[in-house]
Amino acid sequence: MSTMSLRGLSKTFGNFQAVNNLDLNVEGGEFLSLLGPSGCGKTTTLQMVAGFVPPTSGTVLVEGEDVTHVVPEKRDMGIVFQSYALFPHMTIAQNVGFGLEMRKMKRQALKERVDEALAMVRLSGLEDRYPNQLSGGQRQRVAIARVLAIRPRVLLLDEPMSNLDAKLRGDMHVELRALQRRLGITTILVTHDQVEAMTMSDRIAVMTGGKIAELGTPQQVYDKPVSEFAYRFLGQTNEITGEITSNDAGSAKVQVGSISLPVKVSESHQGTSIKLFVRPERLRIGAADGSAVKGKILTRLFLGGIWFYDIDSDIGPLRISAPNLGMSPAEEGETVGIEWNSGDMQVATSELANG
Ligand SMILES: Nc1ncnc2c1ncn2[C@@H]1O[C@H](COP(=O)(O)OP(=O)(O)OP(=O)(O)O)[C@@H](O)[C@H]1O
Ligand SMILES: [Mg+2]
Repeated sequence: MSTMSLRGLSKTFGNFQAVNNLDLNVEGGEFLSLLGPSGCGKTTTLQMVAGFVPPTSGTVLVEGEDVTHVVPEKRDMGIVFQSYALFPHMTIAQNVGFGLEMRKMKRQALKERVDEALAMVRLSGLEDRYPNQLSGGQRQRVAIARVLAIRPRVLLLDEPMSNLDAKLRGDMHVELRALQRRLGITTILVTHDQVEAMTMSDRIAVMTGGKIAELGTPQQVYDKPVSEFAYRFLGQTNEITGEITSNDAGSAKVQVGSISLPVKVSESHQGTSIKLFVRPERLRIGAADGSAVKGKILTRLFLGGIWFYDIDSDIGPLRISAPNLGMSPAEEGETVGIEWNSGDMQVATSELANG
């Protein structure tokens, strides 16, 4: 039994459907991210799970129990928002103990819980400081400790790290992930930051227009997405439009300009027009002679660890990335061959084509 199930969850504001008949199971101890662009319904979904927004239809089950109409305080969930305001006039210990005090916990037990929660986020010793005496990252950890102190059965995080600078955010990803694993607490993270979702999650639900377009491990959703939306939203991709000239049990020939490319498609692919997707890092620059596809390097960009080449090729504009291994890069203006492994030129198959 899944720890949490969302069944046919929908939310309509006026005549605008923010969340559209969403089904999702979250397993016990799992770290699942809702990832998608601004306005796709992530926060609304999380708020329905937490109980702050009543669904228009659908159910929320926690460990088999229907909590759809249960008030937030009785759901046993901890939620950390983007604006996780700490109480400025209270010490760190008082901030972390606040929820327990509300629950009328006895003084000694409360102190033990606060100490435990602060130890979890590695802030022991800072109990008597005030929020303005902490760094941004430390304040962030206090907000998490405050929620963990009540020992929720589910942890809900809504962009909790978006106020931190990039370096600190990266550190927090690693730290929070380690903590979540150690505690084994079922967690849903809402984010529009794909790196955040990739580095922390067991699975990612990629959302668009109130629906889940893609669900899988980070590697599945990046390497083999089914939706065009995910190809475009996650990382970078090259998009090539062609015409299927033959389809022999899924081994198709796709005509792009003067070039015929072998591509694996579904046997039931409808129509002749087809879009192919290939990631920049799956393309390689080779010698011009001997490659079926050639192109001229228009622009070369240096990013330290990698080179980007923007190429005008026989099959349209392409971006190629190559790791910087210390060798001299290809030159702008040079004509090069372009190669890839079969299977890296992929086709999206989902209905949720454009989001
Ligand atoms: N109370 C409300 N009344 C009317 N419309 C709302 C309300 N809350 C959210 N919406 C709309 O529902 C849609 C989804 O909002 P939501 O906050 O869930 O998006 P999100 O994916 O969290 O976006 P962001 O990444 O910007 O936080 C948006 O178009 C938003 O304007
Ligand atoms: Mg939001």
